[in-house]
Amino acid sequence: MEKQLAQLHHKKELAKLGGGQKRIDAQHKKGKLSARERIHFLLDPDSFEEIGALVTHRSVDFGLENEQYYGDGVVTGYGTVNGRLVYVFSQDFTVFGGSLSETHAEKICKIMDLAMKNGAPCIGLNDSGGARIQEGVNSLGGYADIFYRNVLSSGVVPQISAIMGPCAGGAVYSPAMTDFILMVENTSYMFVTGPNVVKTVTNENVTSEELGGAMTHATKSGVTHLTAANDLDCIEKIKRLLSYMPQNCEEKPPQYPYQIGDEYRDALTALIPENPNQPYDMREVIAGIVDNESFMEIHEHYAENIVVGFAHLAGRSIGIVANQPASLAGVLDVESSKKGARFVRFCDSFNIPLLVLVDVPGFLPGTDQEWHGIITNGAKLLYAFSEATVPRITVITRKAYGGAYDVMNSKHIGADMNFAWPSAEIAVMGAKGASEIIFKKEISEAEDPAAKLVEKEREYAEKFANPYRAAARGFVDEVIDPRETRRKLIKSFAMLENKVAHLPRKKHGNIPL
Ligand code: HXC
Repeated sequence: MEKQLAQLHHKKELAKLGGGQKRIDAQHKKGKLSARERIHFLLDPDSFEEIGALVTHRSVDFGLENEQYYGDGVVTGYGTVNGRLVYVFSQDFTVFGGSLSETHAEKICKIMDLAMKNGAPCIGLNDSGGARIQEGVNSLGGYADIFYRNVLSSGVVPQISAIMGPCAGGAVYSPAMTDFILMVENTSYMFVTGPNVVKTVTNENVTSEELGGAMTHATKSGVTHLTAANDLDCIEKIKRLLSYMPQNCEEKPPQYPYQIGDEYRDALTALIPENPNQPYDMREVIAGIVDNESFMEIHEHYAENIVVGFAHLAGRSIGIVANQPASLAGVLDVESSKKGARFVRFCDSFNIPLLVLVDVPGFLPGTDQEWHGIITNGAKLLYAFSEATVPRITVITRKAYGGAYDVMNSKHIGADMNFAWPSAEIAVMGAKGASEIIFKKEISEAEDPAAKLVEKEREYAEKFANPYRAAARGFVDEVIDPRETRRKLIKSFAMLENKVAHLPRKKHGNIPL
């Protein structure tokens, strides 16, 4: 070891360290890159500066004192992505399966501290067998040191976790506390207890992939925000994600050059179907509003009845939260409320203005929803919007019914500008349901109850199924032609650019978790 150390002349030789070429080849065979290759592809050429390359573990049990590797299973340091500083750690599966020792944890903590103090994102490339079993509590303590820093860093600097191999046991809780998780399909998994323990405890037969693979967490649990086809795809997605974010909570997101031109979009005029119960894809509305190809959807396959993601509007970052009429008619339920709330809070933490597109028939009724806590979970979204101090603009494209009208960034809970398309229906409920309740007696006593219902329905719709009552009260600032939506939004967000809003002084609020 000492001899090896003496032979080290410069960093390039350090790069050869780790578990050796054979083990790197084994990684490649599984379709995985090595820890250093991942850093190489993530950072700008020649920008990586390694920290702690000579660190070795302090274990003396189970013969580990005779097995030392420089870096101790994690490559840490800093560099730039598109010219912007980031801190990075990349776990090296070729060294003790990337398992986390006390010193491995210290290295990660060191760069987390630097990221927080210097106000730059921290990116974790996770590929680890979990706590280094030979170290016992020293390793567990190391995890807790990381968890603590995840929490301290939360809302200070963006934290991104890529899962590029195993991530099991308590180890999953560090990524879980970061802002975004990306998982590589087929080569990564996350679970608190693996298939063997599951079999013992619940007698279920399940594979690692089914239990905690990328698609499982993208569709069923919502644990992962993004999935990637392979390591390189994952790295490209990390870079794209970073392009929408500021470096820290004190900064605004980067602004990309944009020449304002004709901002009318005719395509938006034909999107709302004649029949109010016919679905359409809200992504088409988004595409018609934002800069070309700039929408990056988050949680695409989870709670599809709400769409969230980042985009650029005239070169500025915005976060979009939109009901999706193409899925469950865009209704709000437990999962979509949680998904929306989490995204709103990220945007608010990092000064990313919010655009909210509304077409919502209300909250989903039923025992399933009530018993799964639609009250508490729906309140999360309401709470998240209400406490957000970033510029907030709403466009109601069609339905804004009931409590969901209030929740979806209404003027009443602090939205700055609210627009409605002429097709907007802002009411307590749909015309049919409303007529059946308030004209029940009249309808039942009519000679032709069905015809009476239609008549009453029309009467109600004329009165309420439009945006003009809300506009008369100022709850909607303007009823706009869909084709001028993009233009209005560009102007409004520019008008709100220097918005200053403060919440009442408090230690912290108590969001209904
Ligand atoms: C020490 C470990 C290790 C670990 C793997 N290795 N995990 N060494 N501590 N946790 C070593 C192996 O001994 C092996 O060394 C090398 O890494 C590669 O492992 P393989 O098993 O050969 O690889 P593979 O077949 O790909 O399987 C990977 C694996 C498996 C699925 C991760 O190794 C595994 O199940 N490991 C244990 C996982 C685990 O139970 N971790 C503790 C979780 S609890 P050699 O020298 O033979 O190549 C936890 C608590 C955290 O993490 C709590 C925080 C609060």
